[in-house]
Parts: sequence; C-alpha cells; structure tokens
Amino acid sequence: MQNSAQIEYDYSIAKAFTFATILFGIIGMTVGVILAFQLAFPALSNLAGEYGTFSRLRPLHTNGVAFGFALSGIFATWYYVGQRVLKVSLKESPFLMGVAKLHFALYFITILLAVVTLISGITTSKEYAELEWPLDLLVVVWWVLWGVAMFGMIGIRRERTLYVSVWYYMSSFLAVAMLYLFNNMEVPTYFASGGHGSILHSVSMYAGTNDALVQCGLVTMLLHSYLLHQLLLWFITSFQKNQDKMFIHINFLCLRSGD
Ligand code: HEM
Repeated sequence: MQNSAQIEYDYSIAKAFTFATILFGIIGMTVGVILAFQLAFPALSNLAGEYGTFSRLRPLHTNGVAFGFALSGIFATWYYVGQRVLKVSLKESPFLMGVAKLHFALYFITILLAVVTLISGITTSKEYAELEWPLDLLVVVWWVLWGVAMFGMIGIRRERTLYVSVWYYMSSFLAVAMLYLFNNMEVPTYFASGGHGSILHSVSMYAGTNDALVQCGLVTMLLHSYLLHQLLLWFITSFQKNQDKMFIHINFLCLRSGD
C-alpha cells in the first residue's frame, strides 16, 4: 500500500459525475424556465403538441433536477470527498474502480431513459415516483453499486477515524434506499393481468391515504436521519473509546432533540 503522503487520487469518476451534474442541471433548469413561462402564458403549453405540455414537462423538470442534477452532484462529491477523508485512492482497487465506472454508466443511461420515457408520457403518474418499473429496477442496481463502492472504500481505508461527512453519506445511502423502495412498490399490470396492456405499465401497491402515510412517514424519517446518524455515530465512537460514557452521550442527544 502507498503511504498517505504519496496517495495519487483518481478523480475520473468524480469528474464524470460533475459533467452529469452540469448537463442535467442545464436541461432540468431550462425545462423549469419553460414551465414558468407556461404558467404565465398557458398558450405556450400547446406549441410542441403532446410533448410540450405542462403535464409532460413538469415531471421532466422535477426528475431532471432531483435525480439528474442534485443526485449526480452528491455522487460527484462522494467520489472526491470519500477518497480524501478515507485516505484511499480508487486506483488502489481495480474492483472498486470497475464498480464506480459501472455505477456511473448505468446511472447515466437511466437518466437518459427517464427523459425519453417521461416526455413520451410513460409514467406511473405518482409524484416523485414517476419512473416506470424497469427503470426502478435499474435504479436499484446502481444504488447497490454505489453502496458497494462506498462500503468497499470504507473497508480498505487508511484513515482510522470515520469523519462525520462519511456518516452523512452512509445514512443518505440507507435512508434513500428505504424511501425509494417503499415509495415505488408497484405491480406491473401486464404480468398481473396475463398479458394485457403495455408491458411498461404498473400500478402502485397502495393508494390514497395509505400512500400519503407511507410518503409522509418516509420523508419524516429522512428529515430525522441527521439525528439518527448522530445517534449511531455517538454510539459507535463511545463504544470504541469509552463504553462508560455511552449512555451520557445518548442522554445528551435526547435532550437536544427535545425527546
Ligand atoms: C432555473 C431554475 C428553475 C426554474 C425556473 C424552476 C421552475 C419551476 C416551475 C415553474 C415549477 C412548477 C411549479 C408549479 O407546478 O406550480 C417547478 C417545480 C419544482 N421545481 Fe423547479 N425550477 C428551477 C430549478 C429547480 C431546482 C434547482 C430544483 C431542485 C434541485 C427544483 C425543484 C423543483 C421541485 C421539487 C418542484 C415541484 C414543487 C412542487 O410541487 O411544489 N427546481 N420549478
């Protein structure tokens, strides 16, 4: 292994995700500007036939900025920050480098397919869970790949201290996985109906109030993931360093959160 003063970090994946952030940022926000004009001048909704309507472009904007712009930014920071704070280079592990490359390639393909399907009207119509089931499966694959890259890098790290920033990435990985999985539970109607309708079509496994409760519960959990990750962090560091003080830390956290 190289010693930490000589580590040659590999930023190729961080750069690729930064490129995606800029590209999807430009596309997503341009669509946002068009939407804003359509709200002011509704007649603009009819200029490009069905492909230019507010109802097609709005999910394109929200998905474009959330999954295209913001998420690729998060991945870009991970592949930069992760290497630096763990003091390990992706160059040191051809396996993890391969996983990271596959992560980027599948992610990029998914977002392009999302653009094509959403503008074509292929959607579950459920806000923030609009992508149809084949794309959801693709999302699961590259999310798991991100997890393998992240925990793999943590596993071979040179820096013993796990900085709080790494805990944020870990809790984001876990919380978003739960949010995405539960929010996208759906039945592909083609298979359930014995071959009727479109193979791409699906319906949510739960609807109405249950749907609202699931979304509400999961978002609340995400908002609290800061507290959750802090609790985990304090728990483990206390356990490692001084088991006697562990309960004092937990009490302190409970006081701060007002629980
Ligand atoms: C040039 C920049 C942007 C413009 C002009 C813009 C414009 C818009 C417009 C017109 C809507 C539809 C509002 C409606 O349906 O009443 C919208 C919705 C939304 N935009 Fe943007 N947007 C921009 C950037 C962003 C960015 C950077 C993000 C997030 C990273 C974002 C996230 C959202 C979300 C989540 C919604 C749905 C909000 C809701 O349903 O209440 N937008 N945007």
